[in-house]
Amino acid sequence: MSTSDLSRAQMMSRGAAATAIIDDIHAPSATVITPSVLFVDQSGQLGGAEFSMLPLAVAWVARREVLLLSDGPFRSRLESQGVKVHLTLDHGVSRIRKEGVRLGWLGTLPGIVRQVRAIARQAEDFDVLFLNTQKALVLGALGKPLHRKPIIWHLHDIMSREHFGVMQRLMVKWLTRYAVDGIIANSHASAASLVALTDCRPEAVPVVHNGVDVREFSSVDADDIGTLRRRLGLPEGVYLAGLFGRLAPWKGQHIALEALARMPDVHLVLVGSALFGEQRYAESLHRQAARLGVADRVHFAGFRDDMPAWMKAVDVILHTSTEAEPFGRVIIEGMAAGRPVIAAAAGGVVEIVRHRKNGWLVEPGMPALLAEAIETLRAAPELAQRIADQALNDVMQYFSLDGYLAQMKRAMVAVTG
Ligand code: UDP
Ligand code: GLC
Repeated sequence: MSTSDLSRAQMMSRGAAATAIIDDIHAPSATVITPSVLFVDQSGQLGGAEFSMLPLAVAWVARREVLLLSDGPFRSRLESQGVKVHLTLDHGVSRIRKEGVRLGWLGTLPGIVRQVRAIARQAEDFDVLFLNTQKALVLGALGKPLHRKPIIWHLHDIMSREHFGVMQRLMVKWLTRYAVDGIIANSHASAASLVALTDCRPEAVPVVHNGVDVREFSSVDADDIGTLRRRLGLPEGVYLAGLFGRLAPWKGQHIALEALARMPDVHLVLVGSALFGEQRYAESLHRQAARLGVADRVHFAGFRDDMPAWMKAVDVILHTSTEAEPFGRVIIEGMAAGRPVIAAAAGGVVEIVRHRKNGWLVEPGMPALLAEAIETLRAAPELAQRIADQALNDVMQYFSLDGYLAQMKRAMVAVTG
């Protein structure tokens, strides 16, 4: 199957899943009582899972509060938008990484018990527990005998061996079977991986794709791209590619650098920082840029809060994940910014991007193909513009924030009856 056939098939299955969710909700909305929700997330950092929970928590009409297992900018974001946040911190538990749930974690057992109890205590005051990350799932679901509340798990990951260790996969398998009442996946790729792991019915894992607020993007004036670049400290008068997202080996920033080395006069801006301890990788990117002789054409911008401006300042947006991306918010954001997006064709990405229609798909991990795609779009500005226009239409139709919030609410209410 060609990539475009593949993405068409995925688009069709996406439509089917959305209908399934809607069909499941028979009660007219006027009679639905919105439950109160305790949202739990392990991270204080701002990653895609947190950005997808943020508007949901903000817009939730019934009582809702957030419990975070780490402190960081996510807390201030929530609080500044009127969401009450609690923290329950444990240094040992915070250090457990998704691939590293090994025997060593026995030493963290007292911390785990404390966290389980803390979550259960907070959950007592709410109708539903909404677990947004892997660690939140484990700690929240282990406490079910204490809190006895319905549990919704928002699955943001592909539960494959590449992404997760044996123990984590085993725990997910048992907890979803015995403690979780409802699961919502961020893509068909994530949903399928969970079905494969747990043998559950595919209907038990409805899919709601992330959405973005297109208004945030349209409010940035990008008519004068020179002024925009000057404001952001970016080079003017050059062809500029942008790669947005945290610096991590599987996000593939090194692939973009290798592609850059094949294109003598293209510049690249990397927006994002190492959020989850990937400092060594971030440093290796600087060394790689120097080794490849492209350091003067690579601009490390660090983590930025104003993504619409950064995205609108570039000519083309790259997505370079080397492992299957569960969804890829940066892709729909790039589309909302009205820029052509070249993306690595794996995982949830092919549910978003239709090759040559609303974006450009390339095989993951192949710098030569990535460079070829960039050169193709660079040489054909009309094609690039047509793709970007279609992308914006598709985001408004399929990946709007309002659509996301409505579907999430329906799926969540369906779980609690
Ligand atoms: N992001 C940001 N500033 C940065 C880099 C990334 O606000 O400097 C945001 C980006 O806009 C997106 C999210 O971080 O909403 C990354 O989400 P994605 O789903 O693409 O990837 P994840 O890191 O969650 O796997
Ligand atoms: C996770 C995934 C990312 C997805 C995000 C929001 O962080 O890695 O692909 O876009 O969740 O669902």
